[in-house]
Amino acid sequence: MLTSLLFAALASASATAADTPTSKGHYLAQAGDCAACHTAAGGANFAGGLKMATPVGAIYSTNITPDKETGIGDYSYDDFAQAVRGGVAKDGHQLYPAMPYTSFAKINDEDMHALYDYFMKEVPAVKQADRDSDIPWPLNMRWPLIVWNWAFHDDQRFQPDSSQSAEWNRGAYLIQGLEHCGTCHTPRGIGFQEKALDQKETAYLTGGTLEGWHAPDLTSNPKTGIGRWSQQEIVSFLQTGWTANSAAFGSMTDVIEHSTQHLSDEDLNAMAVYLKSIKSSDPQAEAPKADDATQAALVKGDMSKPGAQLYMDNCAACHRTDGKGYSKTFPALAHNPALLSDDPSSLISIVLRGGKAAVTHKAVTGLTMPDFGWRLDDQQVADLSTFVRSSWGNNASAVTVDRVKELRKTVSTVERKDPDKQVKP
Ligand code: HEC
Ligand code: HEC
Ligand code: HEC
Repeated sequence: MLTSLLFAALASASATAADTPTSKGHYLAQAGDCAACHTAAGGANFAGGLKMATPVGAIYSTNITPDKETGIGDYSYDDFAQAVRGGVAKDGHQLYPAMPYTSFAKINDEDMHALYDYFMKEVPAVKQADRDSDIPWPLNMRWPLIVWNWAFHDDQRFQPDSSQSAEWNRGAYLIQGLEHCGTCHTPRGIGFQEKALDQKETAYLTGGTLEGWHAPDLTSNPKTGIGRWSQQEIVSFLQTGWTANSAAFGSMTDVIEHSTQHLSDEDLNAMAVYLKSIKSSDPQAEAPKADDATQAALVKGDMSKPGAQLYMDNCAACHRTDGKGYSKTFPALAHNPALLSDDPSSLISIVLRGGKAAVTHKAVTGLTMPDFGWRLDDQQVADLSTFVRSSWGNNASAVTVDRVKELRKTVSTVERKDPDKQVKP
């Protein structure tokens, strides 16, 4: 028994050691979440090969270990900086903007040197050849990206704003640059480009949808944004995946596990200060108001509102009749901004696919929410989602069956892990 305890202690000790940044470059690589894209499931660190879907076929991330033959071992500092900030590989080919070089362009020289040293000196070299994309000819030609870059890429370092504090500038630098929060949280335009790259333009961080998840508004909008969150709540969310009333879910879980939980308190506070300074995306937006009618009806057994019975049967045990859940255990559905965006994708997707809370140093349990896609049909999911978005004072629009149908397609192909559970057609 003693030995098994010792093993357990050793195992967790080494897990922490591996996660703890060993150098400035390592810390910055975690901030930039390079591993999330450059490490395939079960593959060697940074050896590439992760499949990323695009509308015209899948592409694969590349080997950025210092292997001379298959990785970036023969990249000079300038080659590296040109790839990371300019989107051009050493041999001159244009990179697909799935590599977030439009954000990384903001990284300053000092940090770029630290990153380069980390990849050259600390990351073990792995021999693994890059995989060609599945995009057919002629769509796979890369020269049109020169035009794309000309239209959409601004290869400029971060410009500090001297009217703001040093803390604000640090937060802005991280969020716009290495942390590339806008890749998910900023809406995309006709060329699939992010519509804005900093707060000077109004579309910045007002919400975007990727792979079935809507990354919500991060402006001070009191309904759909984080206008009602304190600086401390933002810090806690990015560090642990939780505030008292919400949990990170969907693609945000990975961001927290791989990247933000590793940041220092100073950097997280700086990011929160910057986020809190971004003006509301909609000055007319109203915060949801307290409303006891839903709970009173549910408790009385009045199931006349569409979706009410489904809510009682499937959700109320954890999220409760008052929609407030249990603090840090089952998140609140009442007044939760992540569910109140015009785009209801995240709510629908978590009902279809279920969820697992982020596992972090400070929140180790990873509580799960069951998936209901195999149990509920499209109409039921739409009714239930509309019910959640319009109860307890929630003030968001109704959900259509068509939207559920569309999102179910992404679930049955990508996400069904348990072959015993059949997805209903
Ligand atoms: C959101 C996903 C994503 C993130 C995050 C990301 N990359 Fe990439 N990166 C890619 C993809 C995809 C490619 C290949 C693009 C292509 O083939 O055109 C790439 C290519 C590269 C290349 C060019 C190498 C080559 O041989 O093609 C370098 C260097 C690179 N990334 C470094 C980094 C570093 C350093 C970080 C972290 C600071 C990082 N990347 C973060 C997706 C990502
Ligand atoms: C891979 C896509 C992706 C990236 C990158 C990303 N997010 Fe998110 N984020 C999401 C999704 C999806 C949600 C909605 C689910 C949730 O609330 O956890 C979300 C939710 C959030 C929330 C909760 C908002 C609310 O109303 O509940 C905050 C705060 C947040 N993200 C901050 C950030 C910050 C800061 C960054 C950059 C460090 C970032 N995100 C990067 C996808 C992303
Ligand atoms: C067994 C308990 C349980 C049941 C039943 C359950 N949930 Fe959840 N729910 C959770 C947990 C735990 C999370 C956090 C998951 C995560 O972070 O990925 C969650 C998260 C959510 C979220 C995201 C909110 C946030 O801030 O993280 C929504 C929306 C949601 N549930 C809706 C529902 C609906 C609708 C139903 C009924 C169809 C339901 N849940 C049933 C436990 C449950």
